[in-house]
Parts: sequence; structure tokens; C-alpha cells
Amino acid sequence: MPAQPARVVVLVSGGGTNLQALLDASVAPAYGAQVVAVGADRDGIEALRRAEGAGVPTFVRRVTDFADRRAWDAELAATVAGHRPDVVVLAGFMKLVGEHFLAELGGRVVNTHPALSPSFPGMRAPAEALEHGVKITGCTLFVVDAGVDTGPIVAQRAVAVEPDDSVESLHERIKEAEREMLVDAVGRMAREGFSVVGREVRFGPTSVHP
Ligand code: GAR
Repeated sequence: MPAQPARVVVLVSGGGTNLQALLDASVAPAYGAQVVAVGADRDGIEALRRAEGAGVPTFVRRVTDFADRRAWDAELAATVAGHRPDVVVLAGFMKLVGEHFLAELGGRVVNTHPALSPSFPGMRAPAEALEHGVKITGCTLFVVDAGVDTGPIVAQRAVAVEPDDSVESLHERIKEAEREMLVDAVGRMAREGFSVVGREVRFGPTSVHP
């Protein structure tokens, strides 16, 4: 395991239960990762309060405070990069990152999504899973690329849809699986390293990759 914990920056937009799972896990030194900053695209959210409660520095970059989306993206990228992250986790971050962000940080940015990719990309995944009548859905952690929820898959968990599920009850069960997936996968990325070749993501030092 590396001598220093991996530096993780988490971006959030809402309740922050996935962030909380990472904050809780990183209390143990053996976890191998430390949340060094939490950023948001809006003020007044529970996720920022969770970060502050854990003593982690926070920042907010709102799209509406910038001339356009590109300017916001460039500033967000510079702010995140300033924290020297080994891994950036989008955990319920309800914005697409852009060109600047991916140029600066690409390959180290993962996003958690409440569906089994490539099914149901976008913002309504649990609702669309119910509308479609699938019996199994779940969650996916992927390496962010320029598409919408299209990047190489790091980890997935399956969740059964129950006959009487509402969007809320289904999303709640997905989020339970998601927190476990996220803590496990980010810990492995931190402790073992990871590499992306084509669409394949592997844990472990890059040198063992054929
Ligand atoms: C999670 O289910 C995450 O996958 C989803 O928002 C929720 C955030 O929960 N993200 C997306 O839908 C992004 N497309 P949390 O704020 O309690 O961690």
C-alpha cells in the first residue's frame, strides 16, 4: 500500500450519502484514501454540511456566476486540480463536466450512476428503470469520458426491482448498494492503483497490464 493515502476530491449536488460513506471509510488509515476537499455546484445542500462536519474544506462553483458554461468548467477544473487529487469522485454531482475538466483531470475522474450502464443514462435512471419494467437494475461506477454516463466501467452492483416499488423506494435501495460499491472501488483504486485500456478498467499497478 502507498505510504500516503490517496487524495480524493468529491463533487456533490445534493444529500451526500455517498460522500458520507467515503468520509466514514476514510477515517480508518488502512482504507488508503482521504477526502481532501468537497466541491458543489450549489449552496445550502446537506452534502456540504456533511463535509464541514467532517472538517473537510469545501468550495462552491455555480454555473450562473460565470459568463458561460466553458468558463465555469475551466474554473471548476482549476479549483479541483489545485487540491492535487489522485482520484476525483462525482457523487451525485448533477452537472456534466466539460472539455477543460477532462483535459486537466481525465482518467482520474469517476462517477457513480444509479443504473446498470449502459441502460438508462441521464438524470432519471431509477424512474426510467421502473417505467421500462426491468426486474433488475443497480448502480455503476465509471471513468468519466465526454459522453453522458458512457465511460469505462469500474464496478457495478445489481438491485432487484420489487413489485410495489416507487421511484423513491427503488432509488433508496440502489443507493445502499451504491455506497458499498463506491467505498469498495475507491478504496481499491487508492490502495492498488488502476488502469484503463480501451473499455476495460483493471485494479492493480499499471505495469502488470499486458
Ligand atoms: C446517487 O444515486 C447518484 O448515483 C445519483 O444521485 C444520487 C446521489 O445521492 N447521481 C446521478 O443520478 C447522476 N446522474 P447522494 O447525494 O445521497 O449521494
